[in-house]
Amino acid sequence: MKHLVLIGFMGSGKSTFSSILSQAFRLPVFSTDAEIIQDLQMPISQIFEVLGEDFFRKEEARVFEKILQLKHLHIIDCGGGFGFYQDVGRLGEVVFLDLSLDEIVQRLGQEEREKRPLFSSKQEVQRIFAERREGYLKNSRMILRKTNQDAVMEISDVLLPELLQQCKHKSGS
Ligand code: S3P
Repeated sequence: MKHLVLIGFMGSGKSTFSSILSQAFRLPVFSTDAEIIQDLQMPISQIFEVLGEDFFRKEEARVFEKILQLKHLHIIDCGGGFGFYQDVGRLGEVVFLDLSLDEIVQRLGQEEREKRPLFSSKQEVQRIFAERREGYLKNSRMILRKTNQDAVMEISDVLLPELLQQCKHKSGS
């Protein structure tokens, strides 16, 4: 099953946009971060602190396998690293929310930044942002610079019909 996969840097608005799309298209959201938090019963900041980033990346790989098993069309809300380290193209049609780092910093208040361990130092954030952008671009079928009504319409016109088509084939077979 191919899903609608949202990727982008931390704080680019993937979760907010996922719920907008979920309401617009009446599709369930699968959040990679929420899945890990629920399975480990720990917030992400604590997972990084106690178990380390490598452990978290292994959890993301485990969640990737879980998504491959989903039988119904979902919106996949990917953590910022998930969209870079995992082969997200295998999960479906990938939409990249391409905001600038300035826009992201403006979007995220102090509290939201503190929830994200990799946001601790400005230099580190700049380094990761530069490193990841090419990877995000390479993996994506659609690039969005804004998550407004036009973006919803673009997905609805271009990607949704293809994704829904496979469901028809599936129920027909
Ligand atoms: C991360 C992004 C976070 C979360 C974790 C690591 C990353 O998700 O998965 O803090 O490596 O970019 P958001 O993109 O939802 O902030």
